[in-house]
Amino acid sequence: MSIINWVDLENLGDERGSLISIEAEKNIPFKVKRIYYISKTKENISRGFHAHKELTQAAICVNGKCRMLLDNGEKKQEAWLDSPNKALIIGPMIWREMYDFSDDCILLVLASEYYDESDYIRNYKEFLECISQ
Ligand code: TYD
Repeated sequence: MSIINWVDLENLGDERGSLISIEAEKNIPFKVKRIYYISKTKENISRGFHAHKELTQAAICVNGKCRMLLDNGEKKQEAWLDSPNKALIIGPMIWREMYDFSDDCILLVLASEYYDESDYIRNYKEFLECISQ
């Protein structure tokens, strides 16, 4: 089973340009409690390096591109996020790393819960231990 799960977001745009609508529990499979976005990422910077115990997120690259590595403890898969029409759904207990950000990359993230540091696993060894339990 792939750990790269995309949801297609319909482009409602017309000759004036693009318009994409996101509706919680309609085209995104969870209630959205938090939204954040990553932009102006410096050259050669990698981010992430954590998993979440409970959180589900949807990552949408609304401008530019970046690459994401997802790892479920058994296998690792990489994906380019390079389209505002695609949301990458990342469930709990998936280690993620983001890199190769273009200068113009704006990565929008929708999250199922409020920010909670106790939901993070920031140590890869600890992540593998949790997975094997
Ligand atoms: P972090 O999750 O480590 O960023 P990334 O995984 O993209 O490298 O977050 C960086 C800092 O911002 C960290 O101190 C936690 C804080 N933060 C919040 O306060 N609220 C949030 O919603 C997020 C995502 C991070």
